[in-house]
Amino acid sequence: MESPLDRYVREHSSSQTEALEWIQKQTNIRTNYPRMLSGAVQGRLLTILVEMMGARRILEIGAFTGYSATCMAYGTGEEGHIDTLEINDELESLMREGWRRAGVDGRIELHIGDAKETLARLRESSAEPYDLVYMDANKREYCAYYDLIIDMIRPGGVILADDVLWDGKVYEEPMPHDRQTLGIAAFNDMVAADPRVECVILPIRDGLTIIRKKV
Ligand SMILES: C[S@@+](CC[C@H](N)C(=O)[O-])C[C@H]1O[C@@H](n2cnc3c(N)ncnc32)[C@H](O)[C@@H]1O
Repeated sequence: MESPLDRYVREHSSSQTEALEWIQKQTNIRTNYPRMLSGAVQGRLLTILVEMMGARRILEIGAFTGYSATCMAYGTGEEGHIDTLEINDELESLMREGWRRAGVDGRIELHIGDAKETLARLRESSAEPYDLVYMDANKREYCAYYDLIIDMIRPGGVILADDVLWDGKVYEEPMPHDRQTLGIAAFNDMVAADPRVECVILPIRDGLTIIRKKV
């Protein structure tokens, strides 16, 4: 159920495209956890951040049904390239259909498999560093993703980490001891203490950290 605040914010932000509406609707119909999709407000933020940064090379960890990749691809223009990582191969046809409808299929490369394995492979093969990374997969592995990707980003490049407030569990006292909460809490502590980056948590949706690698 959408809160009055969420509704007001959505109604006063640019509306989503028909293709994004299609992806959202299909996600609701065809998947078990449609809440995982970023949605219109965060999706628009992704597009605007990509445009503001002039980002062209983007890495996404956790594609789900392709909504956030579509939003970022809108921002890159035709020269953009997005590597997106997803473990669930059953989502592939929905993703590809959505990207085709949005006209961004030529900019997105899907890598099916476990993210840590794919990242290790991309580290070996990627010639150019990424401008932007959107981290949105297994919350227990955020620290491992961070260690793998920090050297794959250019100086001045940005990591966006999603769900970093985890329904407020990371600041509950006492903090719950499930592995996802512990994983995110450890990640938040690690980033805040890392002298190589500057960061800020935006309390949008379930918390989004902007992490900028220092020049
Ligand atoms: C929150 S959803 C991503 C939502 C998507 N970024 C969006 O905004 O529409 C997280 C996704 O990460 C995927 N995932 C979880 N563990 C993974 C892993 N070890 N490797 C790759 N993908 C994984 C899940 O299957 C799920 O589709």
